[in-house]
Amino acid sequence: MDLRADPSGPLAGVAAIPGDKSCSHRALILGAQAEGETRISGLLESDDVAATARAVEIFGATVEQTGNGKWLVRGAEWRGPNEPVDCGNSGTAARLLTGAAAGFDLTATFTGDSSLSRRPMSRVTAPLTRMGARFEGGERLPITLHGGQLGGIDWVNEPASAQVKSAILLAGLRASGAVVVREPLPSRDHTEIMLREFGCEVETICGSVALGARRGLKGCALAIAADPSSAAFALTAAAIVAGSSVEVCDLLVNPLRTGLFEALEEMGADVELSDERLGSGEIVATLRVGHAPLRSIEVEASRIPAMIDEIPLLAVAAAFADGETVIQGLDELRHKESDRLGAIVAGLAACGVAAVIHGDSLHILGRGRVRGGGKVLAQGDHRIAMAFLVLGHAAEEPVTVDSAEMIATSFPGFVETMRALGAEIE
Ligand code: S3P
Repeated sequence: MDLRADPSGPLAGVAAIPGDKSCSHRALILGAQAEGETRISGLLESDDVAATARAVEIFGATVEQTGNGKWLVRGAEWRGPNEPVDCGNSGTAARLLTGAAAGFDLTATFTGDSSLSRRPMSRVTAPLTRMGARFEGGERLPITLHGGQLGGIDWVNEPASAQVKSAILLAGLRASGAVVVREPLPSRDHTEIMLREFGCEVETICGSVALGARRGLKGCALAIAADPSSAAFALTAAAIVAGSSVEVCDLLVNPLRTGLFEALEEMGADVELSDERLGSGEIVATLRVGHAPLRSIEVEASRIPAMIDEIPLLAVAAAFADGETVIQGLDELRHKESDRLGAIVAGLAACGVAAVIHGDSLHILGRGRVRGGGKVLAQGDHRIAMAFLVLGHAAEEPVTVDSAEMIATSFPGFVETMRALGAEIE
């Protein structure tokens, strides 16, 4: 299915953004191991999260939808499923579920779609093997896990990956001995925050995360805030379409996720944060972004983990800025749902924007305006598809994107949300 984004007039209003994807996976996985019931509101109902919900059911938990975004999970002692655990397109499902299952006495085979089957699993099977789990395969899916009694671990999380850190912490819940993950660069900390909501002891000191002695999980109530990675599409569109102003309420603004919004502000966009508060251990707020002429910036590698999923959008914003934007430290983008670095450069070229890769840095030559008019190959990657549709709203000519059905993996209501703000997309 192709989608076409037409040049649009000013975008305005409050954008409807679904629940955070990272927190949704974690809520289901932790709830599925916890004693008693976990009530979740604001769960993202997307293909990726549905894969995790199905997975925890076949491991033995009960998952029930009780309303719009409202789910009830009853935890269980996980058992070996008699069918493969299909993680679909989701790297988070594959990595976190493998870790979570590793401490149980079970055998499970994990599979995924063609994109996920190309992505590395050795980054989690290596530390889990060190803890005592056994694997058949291990480089890429499909892999078979033989879980059981695990020991402790002291692991350096490099390159920074929240999925690897989370897989180790989840396996560590049932391990004997110290479980420590050292982070030279901090990655998103939703697992640590949510584990504490479930009553587990987790300490974060000087770049190290350690599980305490109290590792049992007790079912709880969780409210999941709006996903900053999904909100980023509407808010970046507001930054580049002349005259726009768009707001998102109940937005997850964990500082390890807000790197793009800080970059947009540095580029000159009108960014305003209000109504900050705590919800289920996370910082939640209202964020408004308005259009302004943008200037180029330089982004160092240390800033990348806090905007790892938003690089396609930063590249789009840079195309509309005045001057050369340089984004460093992008090696990890080669291992996402597509080779995102290659997909960004090809997409920009199709839209008349000059961009080159030097080593692991991306250089984008912004000229304040973008021709557009291209057909962008999304390469089966939801975030590439949505980022270039956003570009199309601010370009001089429409932009068409192929394989737009993958948008349902993370943001099923994307088209409706953009239309409600005034964007022309079909
Ligand atoms: C995620 C972590 C990030 C991110 C992914 C979601 C998570 O991946 O790209 O979309 O939920 O932990 P890495 O941990 O591989 O950086």
